Amino acid sequence: MISTDTSVATVSGVSRTFKGKTGVVHALDNISFDLKSGQTLALVGESGSGKTTAARVLLGLDRPNSGTIDVLGRNLGSLKHEELRLLRREIQVVQQDPFSQLNRRHSVERIISSPLIAFDIGDKVSRREQVIELLKAVGLEKEHLNRRPHELSGGQCQRVAIARALAVDPKILVLDEAVSALDVSVRAQVLNLLRQIQADRGLTYLFITHDLGVAHYMADEIAVMFRGRIVERGNRDDVFNKSRHHYTVGLLSSVPLATPVVSKRSSEQVQSLPSPGVDDTCNYRSRCATGLGREDCKSVPLLITQGSATHSWRCHSPVEIA
Ligand SMILES: Nc1ncnc2c1ncn2[C@@H]1O[C@H](COP(=O)(O)OP(=O)(O)O)[C@@H](O)[C@H]1O
Ligand SMILES: [Mg+2]
Repeated sequence: MISTDTSVATVSGVSRTFKGKTGVVHALDNISFDLKSGQTLALVGESGSGKTTAARVLLGLDRPNSGTIDVLGRNLGSLKHEELRLLRREIQVVQQDPFSQLNRRHSVERIISSPLIAFDIGDKVSRREQVIELLKAVGLEKEHLNRRPHELSGGQCQRVAIARALAVDPKILVLDEAVSALDVSVRAQVLNLLRQIQADRGLTYLFITHDLGVAHYMADEIAVMFRGRIVERGNRDDVFNKSRHHYTVGLLSSVPLATPVVSKRSSEQVQSLPSPGVDDTCNYRSRCATGLGREDCKSVPLLITQGSATHSWRCHSPVEIA
């Protein structure tokens, strides 16, 4: 399928705060991005940077404090409960933990057919046929129909979760650390499966990962998040080869890019601290060798620098490109 630059989802100026133990946590601070039809946007950043919150607001599972979210031309904020439920046919999610996202008491057939039942699609016979087709599409067999999750490997469970997400023929898949819990070789297989499915079905992906090697393998575009903000965004090669934000450079410095299966430890060990409170100045300053001594980084509000049509960043003193 030929991809186009048509947006299928747009997130504009979205903020979301939570009450934490030590005060207000700005999980999302004025973030904007869009998903282009048939393409993959990777949302990357260390643990706690707001990636899952971004996924949840896009899925309509959580409401932002401000900003707008548009999915397939519909403004989520204006939808009633039932309209939102119906929109879930178009946007589905696969989460990180292969086991906990599947009901352990249910058979594979029941798990994959549950969205078909929820949306009242087909009858028992046609649903079984559809589930068998879906199993094939994710590299499983008819013989898996009656298995329970604990009889499957982590990779097989993740394939079941993907089949369930595909059952209602969505246009958008949100993959929230969907391969992060898998062993290295299994991870590569599932990534290849996801690429194949995207090519076959023209799906649009929001691909969330803390692992830049995986992002490099999967993404057309990349948005780098730090403490609730998107600090750099652009085409994959711009973000990787011409990184302008110091945080992006730091993330990249520990990642070999030749394979999609780099260590999942490298960036996971660093936890974002909840941001103590926001103003519009740089919130990366305390970690930034360049920004630490600069007055503008401390006091001047950050704007988005649009370096080109496909590349932008938020930094007063961006990394020089040779
Ligand atoms: N329901 C919640 N209640 C309180 N704090 C939350 C909640 N969800 C997320 N947070 C906080 O928001 C920040 C971003 O979390 P999250 O979106 O899960 O990040 P990521 O997916 O990048 O690890 C973290 O500081 C997290 O503790
Ligand atoms: Mg998360």
